[in-house]
Amino acid sequence: MNKADLRNAMKIQTVNDAVRLAQHRLPRPVFDYIDGGAGAEVSMKDNRAAFEAVRFLPRFGTTVGIERREISTQLFGEDLSMPVLVGPVGFTRSMHPDGDLGGRRAAAKAGTVFCHSSMSGHPIDEVAHGAEGGPYWFQLYFLGGRQGAEQLVDRAQRAGATALVVTLDTPVPGNRERDLQYSSALPIRINRHTMTKMAPYVVGHPRWLFNTFRDHFTLNLANAVGLTRDGKPISEDESLLHWIVEPPTWDDVKWIREQWRGTLIVKGLVTGEDARRARELGADGVIVSNHGGRQLDQVPHSLAALADVVDAVGGTTTIMVDGGIRRGADAAAALCLGADAVLLGRSWVYGLSAAGEAGVTRVLDIVKTDLIRTMQLLGARTLGELRDGFVQS
Ligand code: GLV
Repeated sequence: MNKADLRNAMKIQTVNDAVRLAQHRLPRPVFDYIDGGAGAEVSMKDNRAAFEAVRFLPRFGTTVGIERREISTQLFGEDLSMPVLVGPVGFTRSMHPDGDLGGRRAAAKAGTVFCHSSMSGHPIDEVAHGAEGGPYWFQLYFLGGRQGAEQLVDRAQRAGATALVVTLDTPVPGNRERDLQYSSALPIRINRHTMTKMAPYVVGHPRWLFNTFRDHFTLNLANAVGLTRDGKPISEDESLLHWIVEPPTWDDVKWIREQWRGTLIVKGLVTGEDARRARELGADGVIVSNHGGRQLDQVPHSLAALADVVDAVGGTTTIMVDGGIRRGADAAAALCLGADAVLLGRSWVYGLSAAGEAGVTRVLDIVKTDLIRTMQLLGARTLGELRDGFVQS
């Protein structure tokens, strides 16, 4: 950890501080990749607005503030220090060289899950073994199509991933309008060529440039390296081509269920109907998600989708949610509304961009502390108690 990162980490008191620091540090195309959504960014804004529209119903006088709040939990038999997970985000190594390795270390230190994106600058093995403690999950995109996916599943299994998270909401990339202005729309190719195009935006961000230079501009898709099709090695570009041509379907979920011995989670659902289907095909859990408003715009926001999924499969499968969580109070709201856990996406990568691993640690600590404070203010002793009508319906 370098001194500049530690100094920046000390400036982070809220996720919004991390946003400001990230904006200052990152070239605009990289910041906009994180900060932007699809289309008119309706779903992205709705996700936040819905959390802000939640009204809590505290019960005073039943607990005292300093009483211990139990926020440790078990998910799929694994002990976690809190029901807040570090969710999969692509291209984190372009934000800070610590990338997913920094996220994994911070998550392990915090005692929670790190879910590693397929679109990572760090390979499965390195991230899985990059820290002790805290479960390692792998998010699966079909890089290289079904054949590539089979190899990624095998790598994840050998590296000791305890859960596989299959994302279904990306049959094609969403229309990220902000990215179009830099010709960096998905499938994003952050390489030396696109970096040259970015040159004008890089001026004025010397810390980012220095960090990226020291990381030898290692911005490739590390998990695409070594993939084969019909026994022949494929390039990164081919792996992306097949990612788009052969995205996973429900048939593939069924197929993966037969291959994968660990926990299987389906991510990217916004309807109860899809959640039911995931459960019927043998998924152990679902992640309710509109991909942070980055895929189809104008779909239900995170909390509306959560309500539909809880209605359909609540009590029969593990339900997680992401999209718009910036505070512990947001996590508390989602738990009150039936989620078993929440995932952070943008929140942790703002911290990463601002201050590397130390920034992620700050963000996780901020969310955890606020979750405890929210429970103290609500009068809830345990996570289980949060289900007892602490939000207005
Ligand atoms: C990739 O999954 C992205 O949202 O950019």
